[in-house]
Amino acid sequence: MRLLLLPILIGILLYCANYAIADTDPNDASALRVLYSSLNSPGQLTKWNANGGDPCGESWTGITCSGNRVTEIKISGLGLSGSLGYQLASLTSVTNFDISNNNLGNQLPYQLPPNVQRLNLAANGFNGALPYSVSQMTSLRYLNVSHNQIQGQVTVAFDSLSSLNTLDFSFNTMTGDLPQSFKALTSMNKMYLQNNQFTGTIDVLANLPLDDLNVENNHFTGWVPDHLKGITKSNGNSWNSGSAPPPPPGTPPASRPHHKSGGNNSPSDGASSGDGGGKSGIGGGAIAGIVISVLVVGAIVAFFVIKKRLKRSSTDIEKHDNQPFAPLAPPQEVHELKTNEASSAPIVKVFEAPAVVNLRPPPIERHKSFDEADIAAKPIVPPKKVNTAKIDARQYSIADLQMATNSFNVDNLIGEGSFGRVYRAQFDDGKVLAVKKINSSALQNPEDFLDIVSEISRLHHPNVTELVGYCSEHGQHLLVYEFHKNGSLHDFLHLSDEESKPLTWNSRVKIALGTARALEYLHEVCSPSLVHKNIKSANIVLDAELNPHLSDCGLASLIADADQALNHNTGSGYGAPEVAMSGVCTIKSDVYSFGVVMLELLTGRKPFDSARTRSEQSLVRWATPQLHDIDALAKMVDPALEGLYPVKSLSRFADVIALCVQPEPEFRPPMSEVVEALVRLVQRANMSKRTFGADQGTSRGETDGPDYEP
Ligand SMILES: *[C@@H]1O[C@H](CO)[C@@H](O)[C@H](O)[C@H]1NC(C)=O
Repeated sequence: MRLLLLPILIGILLYCANYAIADTDPNDASALRVLYSSLNSPGQLTKWNANGGDPCGESWTGITCSGNRVTEIKISGLGLSGSLGYQLASLTSVTNFDISNNNLGNQLPYQLPPNVQRLNLAANGFNGALPYSVSQMTSLRYLNVSHNQIQGQVTVAFDSLSSLNTLDFSFNTMTGDLPQSFKALTSMNKMYLQNNQFTGTIDVLANLPLDDLNVENNHFTGWVPDHLKGITKSNGNSWNSGSAPPPPPGTPPASRPHHKSGGNNSPSDGASSGDGGGKSGIGGGAIAGIVISVLVVGAIVAFFVIKKRLKRSSTDIEKHDNQPFAPLAPPQEVHELKTNEASSAPIVKVFEAPAVVNLRPPPIERHKSFDEADIAAKPIVPPKKVNTAKIDARQYSIADLQMATNSFNVDNLIGEGSFGRVYRAQFDDGKVLAVKKINSSALQNPEDFLDIVSEISRLHHPNVTELVGYCSEHGQHLLVYEFHKNGSLHDFLHLSDEESKPLTWNSRVKIALGTARALEYLHEVCSPSLVHKNIKSANIVLDAELNPHLSDCGLASLIADADQALNHNTGSGYGAPEVAMSGVCTIKSDVYSFGVVMLELLTGRKPFDSARTRSEQSLVRWATPQLHDIDALAKMVDPALEGLYPVKSLSRFADVIALCVQPEPEFRPPMSEVVEALVRLVQRANMSKRTFGADQGTSRGETDGPDYEP
């Protein structure tokens, strides 16, 4: 009897051990489930399950894992339909994503697996544009989107994609000039752009280490750069017929950069396909165990138990390492750090000095800052609700934040919004972050705080302020964000001193476009879509390169009467007329507020300025009747620009504003259209710049070149 039971027992043990080690990372598993339902749960994907299951442990079709992380998704040529869904961003260990040769459609989702090295979306029915998030995929080596219906101009920035060596855009309907950022593709070997509708020259490719280039059947003009001639397929374009090609603008007569020849020529070498290494075949061992001698099986069980233990303790160590900061340092040390930093960081100027002016703590709030008494007075109660949502951000203790902000000292106050005050926080490791202390009175349901933090922590966009961490202790609620040196657009426009340089026209357009992209992301990419409810120049922070980052995203749902808060915003000049009537904010009221920010950029005026004469106090009321009149526009434009702007760009900018601030919400365009209009504006400006060889902004009265309609 005993002899018979033993193998069965061991089989069960083995099964459990296997289950324990293969259990897939929950984020990876959930992303695959969402992908599976977005693909309409096709039968070709055996073992896949939209409601549960263990992709790594159960060897789902096309999935390769390493440990408990998914590293490859190869589901090509299976006749799959549907779309890619919206949860690919959490697949952070995936290096090879291949869904080519299926019948997928719709637009590509904004977020793809972010650290992918090989991305193959070829031969499907994707339309729309390549998502801008590709700009951030710095590990990318192979990108194939050929044979789709991808349209429009390429708005991806290639500046950070220096590992990319194979790019296939062929057989789509892409238009416009090649992006200047192609110049940054210093590893580029093979580039296939054939059968699109690209225009302009291919000069940006002149210095890339190409082995193979196909630009056939486009609308290219100019000349094929000399040393690319041997390797380029170029039929079916409108090349200039003149014999001597001029040197490409801004490049020395090119000598072709050296590169390894015969290097990584086969695109499929980009990432090893492996043999499914991470998966062990021990699932079947449950049966085999009955046969195998008791000794051998026992040894295997022991191995797994030990392995599991080791794994446990190593994650413990990781956790420990992730503890945000070392224990409290003596205050003196903190002070020293601070002064050091101040003397070595010369750039902070614009932000700090003027910010103090309008940031007096309001009287009611004054007694509410953190001090020992305050904290001691509140009993430490464990949170009532157990939060199960995953929070992709660090948890800080109040002690951490207190130390980093010098006890929320007024000197560290850098802003005050509708929802709370923001402090500059300098941590022990030298990191500087921004800490937002949510007004307790503003909180709708304090129990929901962690859920909302979890939601905010999932927002990732280059133009959305990134949440780094949070703190929920002693009845206090704080959010920790990345910090941007140049402060808010509001301060930049309205509080700059005489000496500081005003924003150039190009910077203003860039800020409008980035902010528009952030809003497009919230409205049209996030699902369910997010209404920001509090778009204003004070909520747009600028980094060192003056890229905009929209702050307070996702916060509105945390706040009691957020719509009311915006109502009060109406008085500040940003609120749409219907919000004043109904008290309800919508996507369309965000569009309106965004239009007001654009007006601010154009005129340099505040949306509501009681210091002006009555007829000019409300920016929208004063400006909108004049937006279509070129002469009036020239008078309205920010005098700080000193006439340095292209007239056409200005009037197109004004056209977009006019669309956004229409009184009828239903006539205002969706943000994706605003983004498109601004992208066109930028691209036309670039083109005329090239046409006229003018590097600086064109001045008033000068034409900005021939119109180009894609
Ligand atoms: C891109 O994918 C298409 C369709 O599968 C294929 O024909 C083409 O060779 C691929 N391009 C590269 C550079 O691998």
